[in-house]
Amino acid sequence: MNGDYNLRTHYCTDVTEAKIGDTVTVAGWVNSRRDHGGIIFIDLRDKSGLVQLVADPSDCKDVLTVAETVRDEFVLIATGIVRARGEGLENPNLKTGKIEIVLKNLVIENKSKPMPFDINDEKVNDEIKLRNRFLELRSTKSFNIFQLRSKAAIQARNTLDELGFLDVETPILTKSTPEGARDYLVPSRVHPGEFYALPQSPQLFKQLLMVAGFDKYFQIAKCFRDEDLRADRQPEFTQIDVEMSFCNQDDVIAVAEKLIYDVFTKCGKTIPSTFKRMKYSDAMENYGCDKPDLRFEMPLVDVIDIFANSTNEIFAEIAKDKKNNRIKALKCKNGDNIFSKRQMKGFEDYVRKFGAKGLGYFQMKEDGLKGPLTKFFSESDLEEIIKATQLEVGDVVFFGAGSKKVVWDYMGRFRLFLAAEMDIIPKDAFEFLWVVDFPMFEVEDGRTKALHHPFTMPKSLEDTSDLEAIESIAYDIVLNGTELGGGSIRIHKEEIQSKVFELMGISKEEAKEKFGFLLDALQYGAPSHGGFALGLDRMIMLLAGTDSIRDVIAFPKTQKAQCLLTQAPSSVDDEQLKELGIRLRKTVSDI
Ligand code: AMO
Repeated sequence: MNGDYNLRTHYCTDVTEAKIGDTVTVAGWVNSRRDHGGIIFIDLRDKSGLVQLVADPSDCKDVLTVAETVRDEFVLIATGIVRARGEGLENPNLKTGKIEIVLKNLVIENKSKPMPFDINDEKVNDEIKLRNRFLELRSTKSFNIFQLRSKAAIQARNTLDELGFLDVETPILTKSTPEGARDYLVPSRVHPGEFYALPQSPQLFKQLLMVAGFDKYFQIAKCFRDEDLRADRQPEFTQIDVEMSFCNQDDVIAVAEKLIYDVFTKCGKTIPSTFKRMKYSDAMENYGCDKPDLRFEMPLVDVIDIFANSTNEIFAEIAKDKKNNRIKALKCKNGDNIFSKRQMKGFEDYVRKFGAKGLGYFQMKEDGLKGPLTKFFSESDLEEIIKATQLEVGDVVFFGAGSKKVVWDYMGRFRLFLAAEMDIIPKDAFEFLWVVDFPMFEVEDGRTKALHHPFTMPKSLEDTSDLEAIESIAYDIVLNGTELGGGSIRIHKEEIQSKVFELMGISKEEAKEKFGFLLDALQYGAPSHGGFALGLDRMIMLLAGTDSIRDVIAFPKTQKAQCLLTQAPSSVDDEQLKELGIRLRKTVSDI
């Protein structure tokens, strides 16, 4: 090895035409190697991208001897003179496509075994990629994502620092903080039979920091939730977590908007500085979900009053209970010309998966509405449907009827499904929306749960006869149909917090055992406070335009919550279990 040559002078893509004639040293991995009968071309890759190296025996014979032994993914340190590529040999797809480096010295710093997969091939099986995640991360696409993530996190810190927020770390070994998922537990050696819980969020600690008088807190916090995984969910993820004192909903929203605006702008995106707001109830009625994708319209239209007149017994029966049931129409513009009868049948199969009993539809023809269901309606009611959904010739209108939660759910999903089928969702748009005025409680199978979390301030607890009708000061920020974050104004009075636990069926003893420290703290001069948390991983997914959260987490878990790289989770020695006072049952079925 020649020590003089061994110092990098440039990253690969910094070697452009301006350097022609200069001697440069670059370092990186062999992306590809081509032997053109005595002259060898190597595409060298580093974090910045590619540059072409040329080993030409007429220039330097030693270099050719080394270049002949080079294989893909070997690590090289290469020194040479920058020259313009010959006529017609330029590569317009590369930043360095107009030049090449004629090698004077080539050092193989390390060899590589043949690669288990082509790192630039995105179609490779996920399992192979995750098992070798450090190789997948070598791709330029991955590096760009993590560069974006770093930039976004640093900007978030800077903005919050500028606004006077204090970065405070909260414990990872802690007590359960309920955010609706199962806890990950860590057994205690010192207290056999007892467990820490990993935090589902820093929620209670950030509230305690407000009681402490810190006034403005933030943290880029790791959170852990044992829940069913999806394309935008990981068991271990990161939040930009914020809390502030003496504030109202508008104050908190203003901080979140400034934070999001600064981060997106820093990452090269153009977005508005304030976002629309929509009541939770309007989101459910018009879009069937609490996170509407507003990149396209297609609202659900209420037609229960028109269907009440129908001679169809099922519709008429459903229409009798307007509190609990819904009949919603969804217009599909020009659907009659886009979709075949067979496709329409497929739509029915789709909604049935989500509890629909069927999916009626009318087609708007030159001479009015057509379809098997029209016979149940009078001419004037058919006219009303046309008016309510603003139908034009060629349109199709679909109907969902049944209990409101089921109809909202499948019609909301169907709206997204149809828009995707019709390819009408603009890919580059960013449509932000605040969904506000969430209900405080949700009653499911006779159990009362907090819709956000039980520390959210209800608007009023005066009338508790219908728990689901109580609104809370809670808000979610939605981007393109994904929940990016959420927050609320918190309960800062012990009496209200205890009342909320009581309404949720949590006994005084249980409340004391689980949240005694919070109830205590609220009795020592707790200021009014509120905050929010943004999912950093989800934000990066949307910024990077990728559809899997795994792409934006350096070492992610699989759908089954495993790390294929390290093989976690894994069994442990008997000795370790003994120390923890844990004995395993013989088989899982014994549990
Ligand atoms: P919430 O539970 O809504 O609120 O979480 C806030 C945001 O965190 C992200 N998120 C996730 N991202 C990836 N994988 C997951 N499993 C996952 N779960 C949640 C989402 C979500 O919007 N303590 C409250 C915040 C507050 O009230 O201040 C909380 O954690 O983007």
